[in-house]
Amino acid sequence: MHRKHVWSLLLALAITTALVIGVAGCGGETTTTTAAPTETTAAPSGVDAAPIYAAKCAGCHGAGGEGGAGPDLRALTDAAAVEAQVTTGGGAMPAFGDTLSAEDITALGTFVIDLE
Ligand code: HEC
Repeated sequence: MHRKHVWSLLLALAITTALVIGVAGCGGETTTTTAAPTETTAAPSGVDAAPIYAAKCAGCHGAGGEGGAGPDLRALTDAAAVEAQVTTGGGAMPAFGDTLSAEDITALGTFVIDLE
């Protein structure tokens, strides 16, 4: 009886280990392929711009910045210009200076120029 119990414990441990390795492997791949630019932008201020972009910008500029109601943002390289546009708006774009924090807007600037 006792010996059988030990074997089931070992089996459970092996399965848990396999699951953990499996999950970690998957997560790693996803991160490197889709979230790499996000990690870079999140580092300086600690703000992750990706969810902000998805909530406030993607509706007009596309999930990947490819454009829609608003212009394609993928070729932009000037983070300060992006921050200015986000803060004050312009044309058919609303201003976000009152709804987003300075940290959010800075993070968005870096995030947008990293879109490709
Ligand atoms: C309601 C739709 C809409 C939303 C929401 C929106 N934009 Fe825009 N955006 C536009 C339009 C339209 C323009 C073009 C403005 C013009 O005609 O000058 C624009 C222009 C821009 C530009 C300048 C593009 C260039 O080529 O210089 C940037 C940068 C930008 N948006 C970033 C953002 C970011 C970042 C967000 C989220 C915080 C956002 N936009 C949210 C519609 C939108």
